[in-house]
Parts: sequence; C-alpha cells; structure tokens
Amino acid sequence: MRRKILSNIHSDKLFEQIYDYLLERIRRGEWQAHEKLPSVRTLATEFNVHRLTVFKAYQLLKENRYVYVKDKSGYYVQPSGLLSMNTLHDPIVSAYVHDSHLSEIHQVEAAFQFSKALLDPNLLPNLYFSEYVKKVFDLYPKVLGTYSTTQGDQELREALCRYFAKHYHFYVSAEELLITSGSQEAIDLVARVLIKPRDVILMERPTYSPAIDVFRRQGAVIVSVDIHPHGYDLHQVETAMKQYKPRLFYLNPTFHNPTGCTVPAEQRKRLVELAEKYHCLLIEDDPYRDIYFNEQPPLPLFSYDTAGYVIYLRSFSKYIAPGLGIATVACRPSFMNYFIRAKSLSDSGAPLLNQKIFLHYFFSERMQQHLEKLRIALAVRKDILEEELSLTGWKWSSPTGGFNLWTQLPDSIPMEELLTKSIEQSITFVPGSICDPQRELKSWIRVSYSYLNEQQLREGFKRLICLIHSMSHAEK
Ligand SMILES: Cc1ncc(COP(=O)(O)O)c(C=O)c1O
Repeated sequence: MRRKILSNIHSDKLFEQIYDYLLERIRRGEWQAHEKLPSVRTLATEFNVHRLTVFKAYQLLKENRYVYVKDKSGYYVQPSGLLSMNTLHDPIVSAYVHDSHLSEIHQVEAAFQFSKALLDPNLLPNLYFSEYVKKVFDLYPKVLGTYSTTQGDQELREALCRYFAKHYHFYVSAEELLITSGSQEAIDLVARVLIKPRDVILMERPTYSPAIDVFRRQGAVIVSVDIHPHGYDLHQVETAMKQYKPRLFYLNPTFHNPTGCTVPAEQRKRLVELAEKYHCLLIEDDPYRDIYFNEQPPLPLFSYDTAGYVIYLRSFSKYIAPGLGIATVACRPSFMNYFIRAKSLSDSGAPLLNQKIFLHYFFSERMQQHLEKLRIALAVRKDILEEELSLTGWKWSSPTGGFNLWTQLPDSIPMEELLTKSIEQSITFVPGSICDPQRELKSWIRVSYSYLNEQQLREGFKRLICLIHSMSHAEK
C-alpha cells in the first residue's frame, strides 16, 4: 500500500532523487574515498521506498563511476569519481553551487530575454527615484554611517505590519518580521534553519527552480505535489503529508512561478488545517501578489493561520525596485529567533539605505498609482504572447497575474537542441525540466513577458515559434 502511494507521487523517478541525494553527500565529502556507503536496506527503510529503487540509484552511481561494489559487502566511494568532481569543479565551491542552471541561462547575453522573470526597467518610474534617495539623505543624514539591525529597520517593519493588517488582514508585530535581501535569501534561511539532511519536504511540481537547488543542497529529499489551474489535488497533498511526514511544504500559491496558477481560497484554508494536522510547516513564497490582471488574488495562507504553521516570504524586489532587493519574512517568534541568528552569520542586516528608500517609495501614493499602470502594461504584454500562441495549437496555461507563461511544445522537440539554436538566434527561455524536482516536464518551457517591450516581445516570440516549427517539421 505504502509503495503504491509513493509511486503515484513520484512516478518512476524516485531513484533519480536518491541518486542526486547520494551524489550530493559524496560531493560534500561526507564519505571519503573507499568508505562504505549505507546499505540498500538501510536507505530503503530511511526513505520508505522499495529496495529496488535504492538499488537502481546505486547502479547509476556505479555506471557513472562514483561508487564501486565489493561482492557481498556493499557500495564504496570510488576515488576516481571524487577526482573527476574535484577537477571539474572547485571542491569547496562545487558542494554549494553546482546545480544552478537558471543562473547559467540568465548569464547568456541575448536580445530576446524570455528567460528573465524580471521587470523591464523602463516600466519603473526611474526619474522619480532620485527624489526618494534625496529625501532619505535629508531625513537620515547618518544613514550611510550606520548598520541596520540584523532583523531590519524598525520603522520599515512597523510600516509593513500596518500594511499587512490593512491589505491582507493578518496581524503581526514588528518582532515577527525580518527584512531580508530578496526572498532568495529568505528561502536560503528557511532551508538552513529548518532542514537537515534526509528531511523530506514537499514542493510543487513545477516550481521555482533555485528553491529546488537550495533545498537539495541542504540535503532534503523532495516529494512533489502537482499544481494545476484549479490549485492542488488536496488528496495528493494529504496523502503525502501522512505518508512522508514532511518537515515543510514550500509553495508559491499566488500567480505561481512558472505556471501562473493561483490556489483558490477554500484550498488555502484546508491546506492550513492539513499543515496543523500533520505538523508540516507551510513556506508561502509570495512575490507576485500585486501583479494581478483582473481580480485581486485570495488572501495569503498566512492570513488563515492561527497556530503558527505558515511562514510567509514576501518579496518586493520583483516589481518595486529590483535594485533595492527588499523582502520580508513573517513568522511567529519561536522561529524568528532562529532566523535572526542564522542571518547574523551571513550579514548584519539588509543595507539600511535600501530599506529606508524602499520605505519612503513603497508607501508613497505615487507608487500605488504606478502599480495600476504596471498591471495594465504587463497584461498587454501577456496578451501579445497569447495572441501569437493562439496561432500555434500548443497548450499553455493562461496566467491571471505574475510574469510568466508556461507552455507545452510539441513532444518531438529536443529541448537541449532548441535551447542551443535559440541562443544562436539571441533568444533565451527556461526549459521546463529545470523547474521540475523530478527533472521531467521536458516538453514545457517558461517564457517571461515582463522584461521585453511590446515590440521585442512580438518579434522575439515569432522567431522562437518559427524556430520550433522548423524543428518539428524537420523531425517528421
Ligand atoms: C517564486 C519566487 N521566489 C523567490 C524569488 C526570488 O526573489 P528575490 O528577487 O526577492 O530574491 C523569485 C524570483 O524570480 C520567485 O519567482
């Protein structure tokens, strides 16, 4: 029975996750050359999977020469395997950053950047920024000579408390907010504080790809939960919570990256109940909430939480001033102390100047008017892609907010070749498999409509479609 549930959730790629997990630990140097690895039986019990699944993972490690077998004794770390890792990557660096495919794609210089879920800088009121910067220096002449506290500027945290109470009906005190440098840092803090190797966590499938890398690096075993335009299959969520007792569920339920889906209000309430019932924390990542095209989205899960199971990550860096990189974590004091301590190990707080500029800019009337215009501009850009897509016969999920469009291409398209050819034509996009904890979803791509202007969007997307058509015809 247990295995049946497992295979529903993982399909047949569970062994790859175990492979990745073992490889990650070998890379970190947790086992030395010629050291014996845990037995198939031990790992099968630990992960609650069939022994064959672990066996398959070990076989693949053996084929790739990371481990060798001694008859009747077990699997051992292959020294040459360590060597090849260490010569390919710096041994210290590789333990942390070897998985970051998305940042690699972002580094490609291209005229048509569909890979960047970033705002076109021309959509920001750049000319007005200098006024706010000047205002901040007038109000706080010593701002450059001062550190923020690790938890973040008190004045900003108090303003955010009022904002959350007014707009999202959740009530936190300034002590329950931590200011971070973007929500990427917040995800990293969550992983460092809450996850130890072998903890099971739930993630949406697909999901925000750097979060996969962060949790994997921390040694988490990822169980995935599908996300659809109508939200989750709550039966699948409950089954996974019951079965694996995950430490946390990392989710992005509002204008989800990459699908654009939004989880309805009834499901949000139920998820919070499930979290409480199964003692699974919900890490709600919410950077796109204000970018809605028609209706406002449902309240955050955090608003429904009374028992402290939701940790809310709210980035403002996506569309207010990416250059300031301001986000906040809202959670109950029991967690907050750990987050502050973990953050103090990497810095002494987000830069104070950024926090003060953000404070005066975000809460200004001008910013709120600007947001209105931004929503319209982004909706127009999204419509341009949808117009072009409607001529192709491909499937996509139509977002009601956010920056991304998730599109399925004909099955026959070899994704790596498409990426190579499109980069040759100065076009970038994100291959779906990068966003999949199971590394499948090979016929899907994420295209962002936030970064290019209308003319570039249309031209670049036409070119991309044309390239895909030429490749699918060549396949026939
Ligand atoms: C779902 C999600 N979480 C977190 C981030 C990172 O946000 P930040 O720029 O605040 O670090 C992004 C950025 O694309 C995102 O899409």
